[in-house]
Amino acid sequence: GKALILVGGFGTRLRPLTLSCPKPLVDFCNKPMICHQIEALKAAGVTEVVLAINYQPEVMMTFINEWSPKLGVKITCSQEMEPMGTAGPLALARDLLDDGSGKPFFVLNSDVVCEYPLKDMLEFHKASGGEATILVTRVEDPSKYGVVVTDAANQVERFVEKPQVFVGDKINAGIYVINPSVLDRIELRPTSIEKEVFPHVAADGKLFAFTLPGYWMDVGQPKDYLLGLNLHLASLRTHHPKQLASGPSFSGNVLSHPTAKIGAGCKIGPDVSIGEGCVIGDGVRLSNCVVMRGVKIGDHAKVDNSIVGWESKIGAWARLEGHSVLGKDVQIKDELFLNHAIVLPHKEVKESIFKHTIIL
Ligand code: GDD
Ligand code: MG
Repeated sequence: GKALILVGGFGTRLRPLTLSCPKPLVDFCNKPMICHQIEALKAAGVTEVVLAINYQPEVMMTFINEWSPKLGVKITCSQEMEPMGTAGPLALARDLLDDGSGKPFFVLNSDVVCEYPLKDMLEFHKASGGEATILVTRVEDPSKYGVVVTDAANQVERFVEKPQVFVGDKINAGIYVINPSVLDRIELRPTSIEKEVFPHVAADGKLFAFTLPGYWMDVGQPKDYLLGLNLHLASLRTHHPKQLASGPSFSGNVLSHPTAKIGAGCKIGPDVSIGEGCVIGDGVRLSNCVVMRGVKIGDHAKVDNSIVGWESKIGAWARLEGHSVLGKDVQIKDELFLNHAIVLPHKEVKESIFKHTIIL
């Protein structure tokens, strides 16, 4: 089988991390976000993945050369000359997706995490007789998503992207199974699958919804990214508890890369991921946070509810909290306090920050 992952877009909501790395390649639980998706696609029998990109093709090629052999899946790029939206890329990659066999393929947004029930979804799709199936989930605030209204037989009656008024709380989880016939409905121009394709397929009674069991999160912004971490780690606890760290320093769900060095007397957890090659000093306190590859944290520092970007350095006795996000290679001097600070890559912070501030 085949799949296309939408990896374009500028990831502005995940700045400053996306200033150093395209959103789909930002690490989530110690590997680039889309690796979780490609692994799940492979497990569902997909052998060829097309990445629909619209910028930084070199970075994407480096990723493919490194990860394609590791993941054991053929990965190719389909590059847009201008951003083609969420449907245009399907028209552009038409020859890669439609081999004439009529077999359905998967389409994924690159920033959604869940347990990826792709096999079940494909079975459901084949049995439904529809042209496309959307994975759906329920959320408390549906206004920032695409909302679907279904009938008792899971047929989608309406699809409304980012509704201004309440139409329902079942939302598009950003994963689709699509028949090649849908490609006939998409013009080769910048266009939105949510606004210009799905409403028509729904009107023809050919759009179905498959309800997602388990957790789901769009990790395209810092707050949600941290919530996604929390949910993903809880799911690891249920399904792969051995992947989580154990020992006197750890409590709750913690993912710690085997190469990370943890000092003496640390208190780590709950809900923490520590990346490759990190060096954590003595007596450090980490909770609800992401510490990416190559980060150094000084003795007795405390990080809560924050994201520490690749290769950053946090000084001794420093405190980071309140959805602070450090870009790549940021330095925080000893003993500083940072609350809701957004620090751009390669910056050195020399003074405490007490309320939401962007350090340019
Ligand atoms: N190739 C390409 N070209 N990809 C793009 C482009 C483009 O021009 N624009 C956006 N993308 C990719 C993004 O990288 C992302 O993977 C996906 O398309 C969706 O874009 P987002 O910017 O993340 O959209 P959203 O989060 O506001 O809404 C979408 O996702 C929600 C679920 O997370 C919609 O599909 C909603 O209906 C859905 O509920
Ligand atoms: Mg998104």
